[in-house]
Amino acid sequence: HPGAEKWVPHKGGIRKVRAELDKCRGCDLWKDAERAVAGEGPVRARMMFVGETPGDHEDKEGHVFVGPAGHLLDKALVEAGIERSDVYLTNAVKHFRFELQGKRRIHKTPTASQITACHPWLVRELEIVKPSLVVVMGAVAAKALLGSSFRVTQERGKRVELPGGLPAVATVHPSAVVRSEEFRRDFGRFVDDLRVAVELLD
Ligand code: URA
Repeated sequence: HPGAEKWVPHKGGIRKVRAELDKCRGCDLWKDAERAVAGEGPVRARMMFVGETPGDHEDKEGHVFVGPAGHLLDKALVEAGIERSDVYLTNAVKHFRFELQGKRRIHKTPTASQITACHPWLVRELEIVKPSLVVVMGAVAAKALLGSSFRVTQERGKRVELPGGLPAVATVHPSAVVRSEEFRRDFGRFVDDLRVAVELLD
């Protein structure tokens, strides 16, 4: 199917993107989700963080990274010396994908075609924000930005480049750290990767 392209405004800035995003019908996820969740942060941000999809909390509240993964990200940003309010935070896929288990909405990983369908929004955010560096969090964001052969486990924590040449650092998704059985170790590694991103900016 055509994907999001025909819903993405190519004139105007981030406000226009925010205004149009919720109308997107580029894949089927809009049907069950409450809303599309737009990226947040200064348009002049030097760093853009890209996650996977909004979760249950983000879908209900309409803001990125406000649930458990967001709380972990907040702690890691503090440890790495990054101000959340200085970075632009967004997701590879803008609608929540879930499966009902009783009354609970359980996150499901977006499919390759949903990632592809949503990609024009991410491209537009990159065009508008023009970050100096992108932090790619988890396999879905990596698939969206670095291609399907990219392996986060092998390539994390070092300078890589997006296909257009923009510097990036890949790391795991904060929700993987939340669920980790070796939390201290995995949290530490996540923070280390964010510190690499900070060093690359200087
Ligand atoms: N996980 C994500 O990838 N993004 C969010 O906004 C929240 C959780």
